[in-house]
Amino acid sequence: MTGRFITLEGGDGVGKTTQAELLSAWLADHGRTVLRTREPGGTDLGVRIREMVLHERGHVAPRAEALLYAADRAQHVETVVRPAIARDEIVLQDRYIDSSVAYQGVARGLGGDQVRSVSEWAADGLAPDLTILLDLDVSVGRARVAAARGDTFDRLESEAQAFHESVRSAFLAMADAEPERFLVIDAAASTEDVQRAIRAAVARLVAIDAV
Ligand code: TYD
Repeated sequence: MTGRFITLEGGDGVGKTTQAELLSAWLADHGRTVLRTREPGGTDLGVRIREMVLHERGHVAPRAEALLYAADRAQHVETVVRPAIARDEIVLQDRYIDSSVAYQGVARGLGGDQVRSVSEWAADGLAPDLTILLDLDVSVGRARVAAARGDTFDRLESEAQAFHESVRSAFLAMADAEPERFLVIDAAASTEDVQRAIRAAVARLVAIDAV
């Protein structure tokens, strides 16, 4: 079995997409088949759920929000992620269970342990081999999102600074609790330096040279 499941986590604007694109190209250059995907929205059903959870105008109850992310995850894991791992591909995914724990469990106050168990149930226990946490000062991340989007924040991005501070510390606490799964990278470093650190860890995981 050479299939691997790598997740990228971190607040909004930390550079997950850019880093995933660079990593994906590098793995492909080394002859690996990569599946780039994301949550929410990695399936047809998930695209509809993403629209509901990120762009619904009225109030969305926190538990409903948590269950929408879990429903998206259940569909995605069963129909996309597990089959790709079984085909010996490398799944490179923006956001997974840790995002639900940080955003819904901690920042929304639903309880990290409860949200994790709902999410793990939804994913039928699938755990990442490696989770890359891009850590960045919240104001810097938000400024990047604002610059890229011209101030059009989605429902989650529009939350106050304190919400995002609590997301950030929740991610760091998870990384502390599971150091063997997490690689924490300072996302204030240059794109090249961040990518270099990611490649070094991924090279060990997939047994290729990091140059
Ligand atoms: P993302 O796709 O990273 O945003 P974008 O493409 O706009 O950069 O994530 C969408 C938002 O969903 C993000 O603010 C984090 C949030 N989210 C949760 O709150 N819980 C979750 O379980 C997941 C997967 C995402």
